[in-house]
Amino acid sequence: MLEIEGVSAGYGRAGTTVIEDVTLRVAAGEIVGLVGESGCGKSTLARVVTGLHRPSAGTVRVAGVDVRALRGKALRAHRRQVQMVFQDPYLSLSPRQTVRQALTEPLAIHRVGDARSRAARVSELLELVELDPQVGARRRGQLSGGQQQRVAIARALALEPRLLVCDEPVTALDVSVQAKVLNLLCDLRDRLDFGCLFIAHDLAVVAQLADRIAVMSRGRIVEQGPTADVTTDPRHPYTRLLLSATPTM
Ligand SMILES: Nc1ncnc2c1ncn2[C@@H]1O[C@H](COP(=O)(O)OP(=O)(O)O)[C@@H](O)[C@H]1O
Ligand SMILES: [Mg+2]
Repeated sequence: MLEIEGVSAGYGRAGTTVIEDVTLRVAAGEIVGLVGESGCGKSTLARVVTGLHRPSAGTVRVAGVDVRALRGKALRAHRRQVQMVFQDPYLSLSPRQTVRQALTEPLAIHRVGDARSRAARVSELLELVELDPQVGARRRGQLSGGQQQRVAIARALALEPRLLVCDEPVTALDVSVQAKVLNLLCDLRDRLDFGCLFIAHDLAVVAQLADRIAVMSRGRIVEQGPTADVTTDPRHPYTRLLLSATPTM
């Protein structure tokens, strides 16, 4: 579903490299966790994958198609297939929109169906993320952090993407809410079969839902493998360091 090959990227004309020679794959229906310290380049990689940032080297393919080659219609179709969930759901929702309006927006922008079928789809999405139908009439300020992130997830799923990139989606949530949102993501992946690149700085969080884990340090993937292997038999000293920092594991 997602193939990242030898990708490097940086910012500014000077071209300081932030991520270097990253190779990573996410199969259909697979959740791959990307973990690493703050500032190591995780969000930069997420932006490259979603086409928001151009890599200086390497290729990103989604469903076999090179993201860099896309223009016009094909680029719009790609944007539909790859959706993102961000750390702060508060910032990803407009204060003026009701939840129903926020969920209708992507359908309207991509001209999916008519008013009636969109309304039906919005009800379906609310149910999918386990939100009460009444929540649909509320605005951002009337929602808890967990509810806001559920709305953001529902909106990301509205167009049935094949790949979901979640960049620290539970970092801003209370610990008690985190597990619920992680369970929801697992559940949704089982039901909808999208591939997921799940990013966090906390190995314990990633281990809760990832099939495989990639460990990033200073812009490079230093280790990757099945979750059980990485968490019980880490090869790289940096992974061991991350593990020792999560006493619950
Ligand atoms: N828009 C930007 N312009 C310049 N430097 C940036 C920009 N975004 C991130 N960086 C730098 O790139 C590095 C990696 O950042 P980021 O990808 O956000 O890491 P992470 O998500 O792992 O915390 C950091 O040193 C950060 O300061
Ligand atoms: Mg980040």
